[in-house]
Amino acid sequence: MKVITVKNAQEGGKIAFTLLKDKMAQGIETLGLATGSSPETFYEEIRQSDLDFSQMTSINLDEYVGLDETNDQSYAYFMKQHLFEAKPFKKSYLPDGKAMDLEAAAKDYDRIIIENPIDFQILGIGRNGHIGFNEPGTPFDETTHIVDLAPSTIEANSRFFDSIEQVPKQAMSMGIASIMSSKTIVLLAFGSEKADAIKGMVDGPVTEDLPGSVLQNHNDVIVIADEAAASKLA
Ligand code: GLP
Repeated sequence: MKVITVKNAQEGGKIAFTLLKDKMAQGIETLGLATGSSPETFYEEIRQSDLDFSQMTSINLDEYVGLDETNDQSYAYFMKQHLFEAKPFKKSYLPDGKAMDLEAAAKDYDRIIIENPIDFQILGIGRNGHIGFNEPGTPFDETTHIVDLAPSTIEANSRFFDSIEQVPKQAMSMGIASIMSSKTIVLLAFGSEKADAIKGMVDGPVTEDLPGSVLQNHNDVIVIADEAAASKLA
């Protein structure tokens, strides 16, 4: 795992953008995308660039159960606002959180990931070390599945909603096995509230108690963290 420490999220977004640009010059076809505040500066860099995604495919990590793309808290809405309106892809996939049969929708999503192997996956990390919505305790061999969100995740994400009661209690998420199948992974972390998760992920044991620690087993992971998020590293 390579760790790059940056001054702030702005600089982090620029570095992640440069990594993406280099990979696109090499001909990558499929991007794995994330939501949350961590990738916002990365998306800003992309929006301001002349990069063209019209021949590329994107696959998002996760979506809340029960929210559709018209809901401004859905991840589909987030992606439209932050990226897809400015930079349309040939095809963009997100888990269907409104599917009647969620289990079948999760299986469909796995098929999509197998048919479109992810070349470059962008990740954030939760305060409890979750990646995607894979909460502590998720088996490492899990593929796309329905998740009961941890109380700490509901609390952390309530800042985007009018009240904590409005935060969905479930999500559909790519599994850890799906994330690990990506060729390159770039994880962004900014702010002191991520310091414990980053410490455990980089220096701690590989354990299901801290899902991000599985990335130690991957051979091409770049962590971009600001000084606050990296402050507890050895
Ligand atoms: C959310 C998302 C994750 C994200 C994480 C951190 O719950 N499901 O994909 O990485 O929490 O969010 P943020 O970047 O806003 O700190």
